[in-house]
Amino acid sequence: MRIVSGIQPTGNLHLGNYLGAIRNWVAMQDEWTAKGATCLYFLADLHAISMPHVPAELAANTREMVAALVSCGIDPDRSILFNQAQVPQHAELQWLLNGTARMGWLNRMTQWKDKAGKNREGASVALFTYPVLQAADVLLYQATHVPVGEDQKQHLELARDVAQKFNNDFASEDKPVFTLPDPIIPPQAARIMSLRDGNSKMSKSDPSDMSRINLTDDADTIMQKVKKAKTDPEPLPAEIEGLAGRPEANNLVGIYAVMAGVTPADVLRDFAGKGFGAFKPALGELLVEKLSPMAARYRTLREDRAALDAILAKGGEKARALALPTLNAAYDALGLVRS
Ligand code: TYM
Repeated sequence: MRIVSGIQPTGNLHLGNYLGAIRNWVAMQDEWTAKGATCLYFLADLHAISMPHVPAELAANTREMVAALVSCGIDPDRSILFNQAQVPQHAELQWLLNGTARMGWLNRMTQWKDKAGKNREGASVALFTYPVLQAADVLLYQATHVPVGEDQKQHLELARDVAQKFNNDFASEDKPVFTLPDPIIPPQAARIMSLRDGNSKMSKSDPSDMSRINLTDDADTIMQKVKKAKTDPEPLPAEIEGLAGRPEANNLVGIYAVMAGVTPADVLRDFAGKGFGAFKPALGELLVEKLSPMAARYRTLREDRAALDAILAKGGEKARALALPTLNAAYDALGLVRS
C-alpha cells in the first residue's frame, strides 16, 4: 500500500482541510505504516505558484504548514513529509505526462473554470496544467490510496485517466508503468462548508476569515466565529430529513458529529427542538476542546525553523529515492535516451 496526498501551503490549515483530509492522513498513517505501508504527505508548493503569490509568504507558509501537519499528528518518523520543490522528479514527471494529458480533459476541470473565471487568457499556464502536476504527484510513487476531500475527486479521476492512457500507449499490458490510484474521501466530512454561506466550501481563499476556523485560532476566536456563523431561525429538527434545504444547519450539525465522533442523527437526538442559541455554544466548546491541544503544539513548533527545515530535508531525501524507479521507467517507456 502506498498512501500519498498533498496540501497547498497557502495560508492557514482550516477545519475543512483537517476534517476532509488531514485527519484521514493521520488515521491511515497510524493504521497502515505499522503493517508495512508507506505514507507520503507533501506540501504542494509547486502548485501554489499557479496563482499570484508573494515569495516570502510562500516560504513562511511552507514551514508553518509543516508545523501544522506535525501538530495534527503526522509523524515525520513514520510518514515521509516533504515539499515538492525538494523533489524535482515531480516537475520532471509532469512534463513527461504533458504528452499524455489532453487539452479537452483539462478544459473540463471545475477548479480551472472556477479559478480562471472569465479571464482565461490572463490565467497562468500552471493553473491550466495544475492537474497534470497533481497526477505526477501520485503516479510518481505508485500511490494506491489518496486521502482527500470531495473537491479533489475530479483531479484524481484525471490522474487515473492519465495513468491509463500512458499505460495503454507506452507499456505492455503485463508491465504497466503506473498504478491507478483510488481516492479515499471521508463520507461524513467530504465537504465542510463556509460558516458564512452553507452553499460554498470552507476555503483558504475566502476573503472573510469569519468563514473558516483556522488551526491558529484561539478559543475566543473560535467561540466568536461559531456564534456569528450564519444560520436560520428554525430550531434543530429531530430527523435528518428536517435538515434538507437548510445548508448552514446541515453543515454545523455535520461538523459537530465528526468532531464528537458520532453520527448527525445522534446530534439531532440530543439537540432536537433546541435553537442555535443552545447549539452554537456547545459546538464552539467542542471545537475548542478538540482543536486546542493541536493549536498549542503548533504555536511551539512553528518557532523552531531549524527543526522544520530538517523534517523537510529528511523527507525530501526519502521521497527522491522512492520517486526514481518510476521516473526512470517513464523515461524508458517514452523512448527518451539518457545514457
Ligand atoms: P488543498 O490545499 O486545497 O486542500 C488540502 C486538502 O483539504 C481538503 N479540503 C477540504 N475537505 C473538506 N471540506 C473542505 N471545505 C475542504 N477544503 C479543502 C482538500 O480536498 C484536500 O484533500 N490540489 C490539492 C493539493 C494537491 C494534492 C496532490 C492532493 C496537490 N497534489 C496530490 C492529493 C494528491 C489542493 O489544492 O488541496
